[in-house]
Amino acid sequence: MAPDRPTPPFGRRAVEVREAAADGGYRIFTLVDREGPEPLPGQFYMLCEAPEWSSIEGRPYLPRAISYARSTGREGELLLEFLIDDVGPGTKRLGRLEKGDGCWITGPFGNPFSAPREIAESPAGAILVGGGIGIAPLAAFRRSLISKGFPTRTLLGFRDLEHSGAVESLFGCEEVRLAFEDGSSGHHGYVTDLLELLLERDDPGGAIVYSCGPPAMLEAVKKICASAGVPAELALESPMACGFGACFGCAVPRADGNGYLRLCIDGPVVRSEEIATALVGESG
Ligand SMILES: Cc1cc2nc3c(=O)[nH]c(=O)nc-3n(C[C@H](O)[C@H](O)[C@H](O)COP(=O)(O)OP(=O)(O)OC[C@H]3O[C@@H](n4cnc5c(N)ncnc54)[C@H](O)[C@@H]3O)c2cc1C
Ligand code: FES
Repeated sequence: MAPDRPTPPFGRRAVEVREAAADGGYRIFTLVDREGPEPLPGQFYMLCEAPEWSSIEGRPYLPRAISYARSTGREGELLLEFLIDDVGPGTKRLGRLEKGDGCWITGPFGNPFSAPREIAESPAGAILVGGGIGIAPLAAFRRSLISKGFPTRTLLGFRDLEHSGAVESLFGCEEVRLAFEDGSSGHHGYVTDLLELLLERDDPGGAIVYSCGPPAMLEAVKKICASAGVPAELALESPMACGFGACFGCAVPRADGNGYLRLCIDGPVVRSEEIATALVGESG
């Protein structure tokens, strides 16, 4: 556990939606958090619509884990921006939130991305590799690296143009290379092709890779970085019910065979070599 990660207030709190809009295939909304501490990039919140998610519509029964993509303002009035991909009942309901609606949040939870100097003695630059909705925590981390003047390159991959909708608002256009599986723009193929090329062409000495995206992409990043000898941190997603380390819903096997990591408290950001595989199971 990072020694200086903020401790979330106990219990959930009611917050209000300040803005909500569609952006490409995603939904972006901003919540006003007046009680929580400032989050660190890579951390996440457990969210559910207020009033309660009712059983009238069936699932979801539990809040859903969502990374923050941008945090502005100060403790006492933090503006937290979230990016939602509608993949099931929970994200559908969150995606219907409109300005003025209520939402329950708990958090911020989990370990943030490590500063480059916590990973390497003389880090030369960061390479951020994001796929799909996994761009959200990387957007927050990129802003933090750039504000400290740390050399940062960003590689983002999407299945099609519609699902890259939030790129401009979250990343701007500078120093971002894009890959599209359908070839609609940028590199035709996977974002991991771009990573392989970058590590082959450049001297990867001193590079650190930070990545978030679908399990298959993270597994490819893990393998590419291992064979290039480049350290990597991966932000993993897994089904989460509590966020406090109590339910073991988010457990993934440790690489050394010595038990499990609970991603809500030991992650979601882990060192690549800590886990046996990034192919984490589906949510329930
Ligand atoms: C730390 C963390 C951070 C996350 N950050 C975000 C975020 O910023 N934005 C966001 O939209 N989601 C994010 N997620 C994922 C989100 O919590 C899950 O997708 C959640 O299970 C969705 O709930 P649901 O009820 O909509 O769908 P579920 O019923 O849980 O899932 C519906 C179907 O979609 C599949 N599925 C689940 N998750 C995904 C996924 N991520 N991509 C594609 N298919 C999926 C499931 O296998 C299932 O078949 C995050 C998860 C974690 C653990
Ligand atoms: S979500 Fe319950 S232990 Fe991690």
